[in-house]
Amino acid sequence: MKYTVLTLFPEIIDAYFANSIMARAVKRGIVAYQALNIRDFAHDRHHTCDDAPYGGGAGMLMMAEPLGLALQSLGIVNRLDAGRESGDALSPTAALPPTVALSPSAARRVLYLSPGGRPFDQALARELAGENELVLICGRYEGIDQRIIDGFVDEELSVGDYVLSSGEVAALSVIDATYRLLEEVITPGSLAEESFSGGLLEYPQYTRPEKYATIAVPELLLSGHHEHIRRWRLRKRVEKTLRVRPDLIRKGLDTGIFDREICALIEELQDKPEKAGHSEGEA
Ligand code: ADE
Repeated sequence: MKYTVLTLFPEIIDAYFANSIMARAVKRGIVAYQALNIRDFAHDRHHTCDDAPYGGGAGMLMMAEPLGLALQSLGIVNRLDAGRESGDALSPTAALPPTVALSPSAARRVLYLSPGGRPFDQALARELAGENELVLICGRYEGIDQRIIDGFVDEELSVGDYVLSSGEVAALSVIDATYRLLEEVITPGSLAEESFSGGLLEYPQYTRPEKYATIAVPELLLSGHHEHIRRWRLRKRVEKTLRVRPDLIRKGLDTGIFDREICALIEELQDKPEKAGHSEGEA
């Protein structure tokens, strides 16, 4: 997988890829990355990349031109230009041809990180991990000129219902969540029971020492009884998901992904919150 990041702050992306885990992944050829500084594509004396929005309003927008040039330097075609003589004006409301038909590489996705985008979740991470290249556009200020979204972007993605000041933080979330799935392909097993797998959150985990600040590790985990431990962990997952993310329980029930054992646990636990905090084997 190649990650190409368009940013005003490439040092943020460089710092992430310099950490030992990512540096090793790059060295092993699992991922490659390139951080393009959008400012390098701003050709006025001050390398200006932002300006006030037409129509007024607070804050500044990232300008179309430097971003467009950065994208075109990667061989990405502007849909708004395709098939027209240069100089023709195109109404922003004109019907847009789909990117896929024009993209030079079908396995490359151009993503813009924005709080107004499609929610990024584990299923989408899995989908994106199957691409050859992700081109991630990091916004700053109040966002980017709409003509870049209309002309180049395949998908706008949001990492959550809150507003970040830096699209780089959102882009790194997408990179991290997809990269670790590629790592899993190479080293299977590590993600088998992670949060969200099977639609449930993770069970609690403990390591040495057995007693910390008067709290002991649940007895049952020291028993070596694999079946009891499996059942305890599953129960803990159901308890926690019911308590923290009841929406995941509803979704799992609606889509029929839970097996009979999980359905029985949900039924047993859902109207008994007092049971959710104290179950067998708890210290
Ligand atoms: N940029 C600012 N806020 C964001 C969010 N919630 N998701 C993705 N990109 C963003």
